[in-house]
Amino acid sequence: MRRPVLIADVSGKYAQLTARAVREREIYCEVVRPAALPDEIKNKRPAGIILTGSFGDEKLISDELIIELSRAEVPVLAIGAGAAVQKTIPSSISAALAPDLLCGEVDTVFKDFLFGRCGCAADWTALNFAEETISRLKRELGESKVICAFSGGVDSTVAAVMVHKAIGDNLICIFVDHGMMRKNEGDSIMETLKNTFDMKVIRVDASGRFLTKLKGVTDPETKRKIIGAEFIEVFSEYAANHDDAKYLLQGTIYPDVLESGLDGADNVKSHHNVGGLPEKMSLELVEPLRILFKDEVRRVGAALGIPESIINRQPFPGPGLGVRCLGELTKQRLDILRECDAIVREELEKSGLAKDIWQYFAVLTNVSSVGMKDGRRTYGEIAAIRAVRSIDAMTAEYVKIPYDILDRITERITVEVEQISRVVLDITGKPPSTIEWE
Ligand code: XMP
Repeated sequence: MRRPVLIADVSGKYAQLTARAVREREIYCEVVRPAALPDEIKNKRPAGIILTGSFGDEKLISDELIIELSRAEVPVLAIGAGAAVQKTIPSSISAALAPDLLCGEVDTVFKDFLFGRCGCAADWTALNFAEETISRLKRELGESKVICAFSGGVDSTVAAVMVHKAIGDNLICIFVDHGMMRKNEGDSIMETLKNTFDMKVIRVDASGRFLTKLKGVTDPETKRKIIGAEFIEVFSEYAANHDDAKYLLQGTIYPDVLESGLDGADNVKSHHNVGGLPEKMSLELVEPLRILFKDEVRRVGAALGIPESIINRQPFPGPGLGVRCLGELTKQRLDILRECDAIVREELEKSGLAKDIWQYFAVLTNVSSVGMKDGRRTYGEIAAIRAVRSIDAMTAEYVKIPYDILDRITERITVEVEQISRVVLDITGKPPSTIEWE
């Protein structure tokens, strides 16, 4: 088993940043709670420990922990403002004064500590992670069956490919197609999994069921709730055909784990009942990505040979085009939106701008206006273009798309999509707007 470097925040919230800095040096590390350190030291036999925080004059490290750390004989580094002068840190623990993890001074401290005192090697690469995880999954899952609600997103795809490489067709992927995917999206995902990875995925065409439940519904929250509940309903029905499955595969990633409180990042987590699944199907969770940040998931995906078109795809909400098609959701309106959206994406991708944009898409506004086509009066819906830059989707700024590209998009939409005769541009940031329109 790979021995991690453990990182604990004694104050403030620097552990995640420190973890990124350690991992950039291709060294495996995990973030843990300080109180969990004694147990984690016993269980994981870490190569080293980094304590982070703003140390000041307070006594932030308990006597018990200091005794534990000295007894464990694990190299320890205290890093952060005040660490060098913190009287309660024994001299056996090296201390660095650096609030800025990227400065040259810290780089030297880091290198000396990680490669020198801890004796780590820079070998935690995406390929190594993939290979180690696949062989661990093989060992841990054995002949058991694993079921998965496959969404087609990056995390879902990387997780499924990895488990498939470990246990083959004992992985049962169920792709609930709610009819609100983008143009050709479902087909192309299925093609890739089948052709590149020889994976069997059960595609459930549930669009009719979803649209029946959504008939006449226009309130955004109600729409979302119906889509979420129906998803669970459909998945449960199909999962029931595989009641010999022991595990449920989920594409949980590290930020989700860190946000929901640290509980020891293991590959296969203990017993869980997953919200919405029938109680009797009590499944254990398999979460092979739960120690990876998003960019690391993408690198692992690339190492596994997953095409770039999948690993670099823009974030796409669970309810799909349902939150971009304002008003009632009908097959006809979703088809109109799919066409507009495909044009926006095609033109931005062709221009080379897309790679610097977080999300770019079309919205069907549910507002109609008068227009002229071929000398005749028309009265059709207005389509909107939305493109934003963001780091984490918490805030976003709109992208200033050059006019010639906007011209081309508008020209194409109004010519190729018969029902649209007016196109507008959304130039609002988040806040005050959200990225999605609903
Ligand atoms: P908003 O619209 O809240 O979106 O600014 C922030 C980010 O989250 C995505 N999003 C969702 N993702 N299920 C998801 O998996 C959802 O229900 C959902 N709603 C919004 C959105 O695309 C953006 O990246």
